[in-house]
Amino acid sequence: MKFIVLTLFKEMFEAFVNTSIIKRAIDKNIVSIDVVDIRDFTEDKHNRVDFPPYGGGSGMIISAQPLSAAIDYSIEKLSCENKNIEIIYMSPRGKVLNYSISKQISLSNSNYIIICGHYEGIDERVIEEYNIKEISIGDYVLTGGELACQVLMDSVIRLLPGAITEDSLVEESHTNNLLEYPQYTKPYDFRGRKVPDVLISGHHKNIADYRKMESIRITKKFRPDLIDKYNKEKNNSKKEGN
Ligand SMILES: C[S@@+](CC[C@H](N)C(=O)[O-])C[C@H]1O[C@@H](n2cnc3c(N)ncnc32)[C@H](O)[C@@H]1O
Repeated sequence: MKFIVLTLFKEMFEAFVNTSIIKRAIDKNIVSIDVVDIRDFTEDKHNRVDFPPYGGGSGMIISAQPLSAAIDYSIEKLSCENKNIEIIYMSPRGKVLNYSISKQISLSNSNYIIICGHYEGIDERVIEEYNIKEISIGDYVLTGGELACQVLMDSVIRLLPGAITEDSLVEESHTNNLLEYPQYTKPYDFRGRKVPDVLISGHHKNIADYRKMESIRITKKFRPDLIDKYNKEKNNSKKEGN
């Protein structure tokens, strides 16, 4: 999978592409991330990319000219691949990111151009012109789309085959509308708090049953809204005989 990120702040991606699981996924050619500076495409003689909004108001808007030129360049770069090209704008008014959106992207036969807005955002006409999808990472406003873009890419990349061990994904929070059970490691006794006996019993079935029970308990406690979805899907798969 290929991502081309369009931003005015390339430096914000340096740590992201050079650290931990994301770096390994890049090194293993599971994913590629090109970070492109929108400013490189401006035709403004003062190198400007943002201007005040028509109609007045505070802040600056990233203008259509450099942004559309950066998008055209990215489309051209991806067009030799035998894959769809999708364009996403990280935006507080977009569909709120969740596990199922990340999963859908990870399974898609597409490469992605991701636009990070800044200041007051981008010229609306670019969104219309390229039929751009908008994704938010939550109901709050960030200074820019760079962190949001990293959240989106991170949540997708870890789902790509080979990025992390398959086992880590099986019982992870949100995979089946359940949150993960509590986890413990050494030491066995931490300030008098001992690891639950069943986890050191070596009895795989009992451990699996205990973890399932704990997952349900934790989900009811922290996200009761997910339990309905979990029960519905469980009943559906029973009906389908899975
Ligand atoms: C300060 S915000 C602009 C907010 C915009 N004026 C509004 O009120 O909707 C600057 C940029 O940050 C990004 N951004 C802000 N909040 C976001 C969120 N919750 N999810 C994704 N991107 C966000 C967008 O790319 C946006 O263009």
